[in-house]
Amino acid sequence: MNKVPEIMAREGEPDPDVFVKADAFTKKTYRDVYSAIDPTRPNLSQKGKVVVITGASRGLGRYSFAASFARAHADAIVLLARSRENLSQTETMVKSISPSTKVLSIAVDVTDYDSVKRAFDEIIERLGIPQVLVNNAGVIASQCRIVDDDPDFWWRTQEVNVRGTFNVTQAFLKIVGPSPAAPTAIINLTSAAGHYVGQKLSSYCLTKLAITQFTAFLKDEHPQITSVSLHPGMIPTDMGNSASWLAPFMKDTADLCGGTAVWLSSGDRQFLSGRYVAANWDVEELEARKEEIVQDNLLTVRLNGRFGE
Ligand SMILES: NC(=O)c1ccc[n+]([C@@H]2O[C@H](COP(=O)([O-])OP(=O)(O)OC[C@H]3O[C@@H](n4cnc5c(N)ncnc54)[C@H](OP(=O)(O)O)[C@@H]3O)[C@@H](O)[C@H]2O)c1
Repeated sequence: MNKVPEIMAREGEPDPDVFVKADAFTKKTYRDVYSAIDPTRPNLSQKGKVVVITGASRGLGRYSFAASFARAHADAIVLLARSRENLSQTETMVKSISPSTKVLSIAVDVTDYDSVKRAFDEIIERLGIPQVLVNNAGVIASQCRIVDDDPDFWWRTQEVNVRGTFNVTQAFLKIVGPSPAAPTAIINLTSAAGHYVGQKLSSYCLTKLAITQFTAFLKDEHPQITSVSLHPGMIPTDMGNSASWLAPFMKDTADLCGGTAVWLSSGDRQFLSGRYVAANWDVEELEARKEEIVQDNLLTVRLNGRFGE
């Protein structure tokens, strides 16, 4: 993948698609929902499933994942985040999209292991075993060069994005067990930024690289579960708007990654387990290239260089 400084150094008016083109794995790319990932398609129905979404109080958690899984008529959606007030607004939105979907909102800080564990005890008691987990909660607590950063802010991003993802994933794995009876998916929100170096984002970028590798470990340790790290595109949420220099490129819709997450949670997507997927990529082309992706172990993190013989 390209480096941010190389992309930003290109002359003239910024091309809003420059990052999508630079990171295109498929020939066709999208910036809005399209037919194959339309969550209202019968083959993508989430009926019968309990879906847990972290960071569901605003941003992608609300407008991408809660909205799209509601359109796909999940039996129940569990909304996790710290702000009760914002969670109740997401709950109202889900009910307006899909009145039959049960909603359970639990105020929880993902960095607090005991609270996360209690939340999962409540989920199992009230809704039973979940089949989908979207690890979406995330922060960018600092945007500084390493030499200037406040160590607590730098570490806070690690705590929420990495430890938070670990806490929630472990609680989920403990209740779904080693051989889940129903097809089960974990979608971890990563970012193309995990493969970039630049722009005072060392803490955030490292967390996203860690999440991509964490997902590969999940696939290795839990081969029966489909675990995918998803780059959602560039969407103008609170976080998306926090780096003003990225504003010209923030043109993906919330529905694009929402639909992609529903698609990843439907049918047989095992060939993408342990791998990185960008919401901008054409899922039909990914399917057509299944053999190549698996045989050549593509979309995984490697060290550049020539090694061995
Ligand atoms: N937007 C983009 O263009 C973009 C691009 C690449 C990747 N991503 C990734 O997508 C995910 C969502 O991003 P976003 O743009 O929607 O961000 P956002 O608008 O800032 O929303 C972040 C969400 O995370 C929750 N959260 C933060 N700290 C938490 C904590 N300690 N415990 C529980 N929940 C917490 C927030 O809820 P409370 O404050 O109520 O707790 C909020 O719901 C992130 O993982 C981000 O890294 C986004």
